Amino acid sequence: MDVGYTVEQLRAAAADAVRAPSLHNTQPWRFRLRDGGIELAVDPTRRLPATDPSGWGVRLSGGAALHNLRLALAAAGTPASVRLRPYPGEPDVLARLVPDLPRRPTPTELSLHAAVPRRFSNRRPFWPDPVPADVRWRLGEAARAEQCWLELVIGTSAVNAFAEIARSAHRVLERDPAYRAERIAWTRAAPADDGVPAAAGGPQSEPQDLLPARGFGGLDRPPGRDFEPEPLVAVLISAGNTATDQIVAGQALQRVLLTATDAGLAVSMLSQPIEVPGAREQLRLSLGRFGTPQMVLRIGYGQPGRATPRRAVDEVLDLPVPQV
Ligand SMILES: Cc1cc2nc3c(=O)[nH]c(=O)nc-3n(C[C@H](O)[C@H](O)[C@H](O)COP(=O)(O)O)c2cc1C
Repeated sequence: MDVGYTVEQLRAAAADAVRAPSLHNTQPWRFRLRDGGIELAVDPTRRLPATDPSGWGVRLSGGAALHNLRLALAAAGTPASVRLRPYPGEPDVLARLVPDLPRRPTPTELSLHAAVPRRFSNRRPFWPDPVPADVRWRLGEAARAEQCWLELVIGTSAVNAFAEIARSAHRVLERDPAYRAERIAWTRAAPADDGVPAAAGGPQSEPQDLLPARGFGGLDRPPGRDFEPEPLVAVLISAGNTATDQIVAGQALQRVLLTATDAGLAVSMLSQPIEVPGAREQLRLSLGRFGTPQMVLRIGYGQPGRATPRRAVDEVLDLPVPQV
């Protein structure tokens, strides 16, 4: 029986983990082996103090990376047993994974794992085709399987009310010069292995747009190419809002995103109404549910696009120094 994971297993799983989404594609994570366990930690040099003062975005991104780690290990037949925030004195260590009993991967694990390299944020207009009921159900199941739930915002008046909250949160954020500076600093006009490539940033906003888009450089929009009139908006909700709840929410986020990719759907994320505390509370009240909104998704059928770049996996590994 193996006593722990190897460096090769760490490297292979981390290569999938880094494909997770992160706020402004900051990729705020590090991976290492400690006593046979794979550990995922926050990279404190990649925090966004103005955009994400509480560290919510770092923990959501870390949770998403953790989901990919778990999937990669399960798909390889070496599933992990996971402890979140295993060391009270080291809150930046988000998770520790040790080998569980080896078993064959389930069909769901295999299809979600296969979706990892195909998933990307699609900020362009979607086709107006509705998302069928069985696919909506699968998305909800994906969130539930990770101890969260997905609330769909259905109907013109509910979508308009949500859009109003999102637009006002966007305006609040854009008034802050430090927030704007971070957004601009992480927008990439030239090829780079982190940050949001301007080409992935979606089209320039126009006054008739229902939902606010973070300006990541923006492509010129051909005349008449408007966004879908009634987007499918979904809010990911977690039971509580502790640091651990946020890591749980990140895992649920990634499972929903991969399930959507597997179903041929495109998704973009909108977190302005989560980042402004007043807007988040308004959103929570408008949904009439317990729990805390952790992310908003726009879901639909999109045009093809490309995955955004990541740093090489060796740049995010902390490997043991070889003994001489
Ligand atoms: C916590 C979090 C918040 C995000 N907020 C937004 C957002 O408000 N607007 C947006 O366009 N993308 C948002 N994103 C998506 C990231 O910009 C995206 O994941 C990153 O650029 C990597 O690109 P990819 O998703 O195509 O791999 C968010 C992602 C995370 C994890």
